[in-house]
Amino acid sequence: MIGGGVIGLVTAWRAARRGLSVAVADPAPGGGAARAAAGMLAPVTELHHGEQELLALNLASARRYPAFTAELEEAAGRETGYRACGTLAVAFDADDRAHLRELHLLQQRCGLETQWLTGRECRRLEPMLAPGVQGGLRVDGDHQTDPRRLTGALLTACERAGTVFHRAEAVRIVRNGDRVTGAELADGSRVTAGQTVLAAGSFSGRLAGLPEEVLPPVRPVKGQILRLRVPAAYRPFLSRTVRAVVRGGQVYLVPRENGELVVGATTEELGWDTTVTAGGVYELLRDAHELVPGITELPLVETTAGLRPGSPDNAPLLGPTALPGLHTATGHHRNGVLLAPLTGDVMAEVLTGGRPPAEALPFSPLRFSPSLQEQST
Ligand code: GLY
Repeated sequence: MIGGGVIGLVTAWRAARRGLSVAVADPAPGGGAARAAAGMLAPVTELHHGEQELLALNLASARRYPAFTAELEEAAGRETGYRACGTLAVAFDADDRAHLRELHLLQQRCGLETQWLTGRECRRLEPMLAPGVQGGLRVDGDHQTDPRRLTGALLTACERAGTVFHRAEAVRIVRNGDRVTGAELADGSRVTAGQTVLAAGSFSGRLAGLPEEVLPPVRPVKGQILRLRVPAAYRPFLSRTVRAVVRGGQVYLVPRENGELVVGATTEELGWDTTVTAGGVYELLRDAHELVPGITELPLVETTAGLRPGSPDNAPLLGPTALPGLHTATGHHRNGVLLAPLTGDVMAEVLTGGRPPAEALPFSPLRFSPSLQEQST
């Protein structure tokens, strides 16, 4: 396994559960994009035009979350922070309301059940919302988990399942002819494997030793995100995840049961830059404050920037590549935490010689290397 972020770890754990011997190469397992992520499990409120196949994948993974969480918590002896709290998506002004109405129509066309609420009804659900809120969508099936606790639990579950960790970066794929036989690490050592999974998030696209057509077309998409703390006297500050369109900009607030309040996130195409900027923090706080004025009273605990692994169609690359012995599990973009349960199961199925479930078939990595796809069929 190349990469020990949430996707690498969930794949390692599920593969080990199926009886495979698994090794993970990562200088800091449990890190990666999930350290920054808010953990929204939001296939319905994050629906976009043209992404219906991705919606089916996202919904399939969201459905797995309760059973996946129970199994993981049992295996790791640790909680993950999964919370079935629902989501409210609200509009700040009249233009934002038109935007949200469009989303509502799209959801209805996709057969999703969501409920339109007036501004007053939104505030009845969440009294901390600003009086000017123009309306919103109640989405009772979009939930949340805590990505840091989730990756911590996955790490423990992997260790308990006998996974070997190599704490070094994989820098080059090792091949014997066309067949991939493992990876060379930054410390000069080599790990040999019958099957290798490239699950290095946004770094997956810059591994040496792969032909251009096989290298996953992923790029880093920066997200800055804030963590605040709601003192006990102010709780519950918000009872569910609140997303909003504020003067055309997107912001979300994810309240955890332990009092953490996550405010995110910027979307920036700036290569490998992970600087937290005054502008990024300002924009997030400005929009969050417009929406929930009381937020200025809360302690600001942490500012972070992470890199989402973006792909050309915003969807993941799951399964075998054109090179024998090499699979990818990367390109999850905004949905890495949401897609973790499904990704783990799809990859474990493929690694043990099975076929992926129907909803995963459109997400083969071969869709980005059509000439090689023809040769391999
Ligand atoms: N899924 C939320 C984000 O990527 O910001």
